Amino acid sequence: MEKRSKIYVAGHTGMVGSALVRKLQKEGYSNLVLKTSCELDLTNQSAVESFFRNENPEYVFLAAARVGGIEANNKYRANFLYENLMIQNNVIHQSYVHGVKKLLFLASSCIYPKLAPQPIKEEYLLTGKLEPTNEPYAIAKIAGVKMCENYNLQYGSNFISVMPTNLYGPNDHYDLKTSHVLPAMLRRFHEAKFSQKEFVELWGSGTPRREFLHVDDLAEACYHLMHKYEGNVSVNIGTGKDISIEELAILIKEIVGYKGEISWDTTKPDGTPRKLLDVSLIHSLGWKHSIKLKEGIKKVYKERFLN
Ligand SMILES: NC(=O)c1ccc[n+]([C@@H]2O[C@H](COP(=O)([O-])OP(=O)(O)OC[C@H]3O[C@@H](n4cnc5c(N)ncnc54)[C@H](OP(=O)(O)O)[C@@H]3O)[C@@H](O)[C@H]2O)c1
Repeated sequence: MEKRSKIYVAGHTGMVGSALVRKLQKEGYSNLVLKTSCELDLTNQSAVESFFRNENPEYVFLAAARVGGIEANNKYRANFLYENLMIQNNVIHQSYVHGVKKLLFLASSCIYPKLAPQPIKEEYLLTGKLEPTNEPYAIAKIAGVKMCENYNLQYGSNFISVMPTNLYGPNDHYDLKTSHVLPAMLRRFHEAKFSQKEFVELWGSGTPRREFLHVDDLAEACYHLMHKYEGNVSVNIGTGKDISIEELAILIKEIVGYKGEISWDTTKPDGTPRKLLDVSLIHSLGWKHSIKLKEGIKKVYKERFLN
């Protein structure tokens, strides 16, 4: 990518897209094409076709998607399947039709099999059953990974895909009905502290283990791969370290300064028992995360709740 290259960041208002824009601008890329979903609905095939015809972007970061936590994934199953398939079909296909030089597609670590051996290697994709609560989302994302791979194989395009672990950072969602575990906990503990609640109730048993990556680290990794990687393997992006949900709750409780108790609603689903990525491929490609979990959560808490 040249500094003057025309780069389309799809989903630039979201957590990942906005981090990619910050990174590209920091590196001196100013010819960015950015459209909100109101300006360009990526599920609309003819709108996406005319956008690519008129704008002709040279590079594409595809970070637009319907995204959410367990509850949203489970409740809006049809939306997660339909919208994600439509967005990626339209953007990936039009990128091919209009000769985009390189595209990076954001997949997700939650598309690996529910009971994949740990840590999860890239080759474990499609080797077992998916987690039922997010199966529609996973099926759509797997189709996106396979589109990149098969467009490369058939048409010689240069489309890469990545598998980020759970992310957190600026522009995350804090609506408790749709948010992921880390921002939901930050909000719950923060509100409990200020309303002096005696306890905070959290979903599940607290035993599942998860890995978390600051979205600024993810943007660094995507930028690195856009320059250094070509291939059909969807590259894991994570820290290679996990933490139990209970340990995460204790850490966030401490960062927020909440003095009450934590109780666990074990009638609610836990999701996949463990999800830790094997990050040896991206390490071998010359990238490692730099933001430690405690430091990253402190920063996010300050930016979102204390300013
Ligand atoms: N968050 C995570 O923990 C995580 C982890 C792994 C992978 N990922 C992947 O990273 C990508 C981005 O996630 P995120 O957390 O940044 O999501 P997000 O904050 O919810 O942002 C989603 C973005 O997609 C756009 N969008 C949604 N529907 C659209 C449509 N029909 N037309 C045009 N734009 C549309 C939204 O635009 P508007 O705001 O204009 O509606 C927004 O900019 C996704 O592919 C996700 O699978 C995320």
